[in-house]
Amino acid sequence: MENFDYCNPTRIVFGPGVHSQVGELVKPHADRVLLHYGGGSIKRSGLYDAIAASLKAAGVAYVELGGVVPNPRLSLVREGIALCRRERIGFVLAVGGGSVIDSAKAIAMGAPHKGDVWKLFAEGTPVEQALKVGTVLTIPAAGSESSPNTVITNEEEGLKLGYGAQVLRPVFSILDPELCLTLPPEQLANGVSDMMSHIFERYFSNTPHVDLTDALCEATLRTIMKHARRLRASPQDADAWAQIVFSGYVAHKGLLGLGRQQDWACHGMEHELSALYDVAHGAGLAVLTPAWMEYVFRDNVPLFVQFAVNVMGVEGGFREPEAVAQEGIRRLRGFYKEMGLPSTLEGLGIGADKLELMAKKATKIAFGAQRPLGGLRKLGWQDVLAIYRVC
Ligand code: NZQ
Ligand code: ZN
Repeated sequence: MENFDYCNPTRIVFGPGVHSQVGELVKPHADRVLLHYGGGSIKRSGLYDAIAASLKAAGVAYVELGGVVPNPRLSLVREGIALCRRERIGFVLAVGGGSVIDSAKAIAMGAPHKGDVWKLFAEGTPVEQALKVGTVLTIPAAGSESSPNTVITNEEEGLKLGYGAQVLRPVFSILDPELCLTLPPEQLANGVSDMMSHIFERYFSNTPHVDLTDALCEATLRTIMKHARRLRASPQDADAWAQIVFSGYVAHKGLLGLGRQQDWACHGMEHELSALYDVAHGAGLAVLTPAWMEYVFRDNVPLFVQFAVNVMGVEGGFREPEAVAQEGIRRLRGFYKEMGLPSTLEGLGIGADKLELMAKKATKIAFGAQRPLGGLRKLGWQDVLAIYRVC
């Protein structure tokens, strides 16, 4: 196991109905907030009115900025930064999914920063200061409710870049599973694919002596698959949503990756798909992940056998480890199919013409130095291209 230094200060308030506590949770931090949200689901569900009432009851005033789209855009982030500066706002309340929360975090880091916020993303400059962020999560998926990360699309440059800083972890996140009851099946599928990938990126590691995090990863993956299947059959099953919401948070709060080298190749490859084709992050991951597994599994066959047996329920002989590993990957593909997720780039509406460009961007060769992707196996742009081609 590797050394680690871990601090996740995000307060989690969990359970059906807890969204009505939002005013009381904001109040110790601010009297006035930027209320940030997406394309309208919170208005249709009545959540917007409930949040407004709770803020009002707690004596918290708000200025609002809606319109965040999936794969959140830099232009709206800049608008939010200008608004916070003009209105002297010190707290951003994000009500929505990963896109809204990421947009809120980018506004929070950009507002006190003198230069252009995109330079921070492009250059990875560390920030020590940011406005506080609180969240009301409406879709379990990205794990941004307690992560230190934000991922923003620069629509003019066709780039989607991530940025991480500890000050971006939300001060609180409200995880109310009842808010998920309005989610359509494809958003359940996208979310489940994303949270499973957050575990895979940590689980598939060459670091030895990590039994505890191996077991935690495996238990979380099994829980997600079990309750995702329940929700495919009964989308209004509030208990199953509670398990999924909790799992999505655990998947990306940092715990499951402690003491292990991590991978993140699939995320790196997916961000290029989202940047150029605006596909849903989870759908892109469902296409890439099995292809990545098939490309790299021979580098650590025992680990892929462990995954096949402990997570995918494969029973196999000790004399045929590669066959067991491959059966695990085949069953994962089957699970994605059950969830209605796409299995090819074509299924995402992506042709073959930009694969090389994306492979070079993913490994940063387009900007000068090459930075291989991944941890289990380092992938150069030719490897990434080969994986895109299989997809
Ligand atoms: O915009 P509205 O109208 O709210 O609709 C949203 C959106 O269209 C809808 N939705 C959300 N909650 C709903 C709902 N519809 C009905 N009922 C509800 N309760 O769902 C759609 C997708 O929302 P979005 O926020 O885009 O989804 P998600 O949470 O999957 O976020 C995806 C983004 O997170 C980034 C991804 O790259 C992507 O941009 N990620 C962020 C991470 C982080 N900050 O740590 C890590 C992840 O790996 C990921 O990269
Ligand atoms: Zn993700």
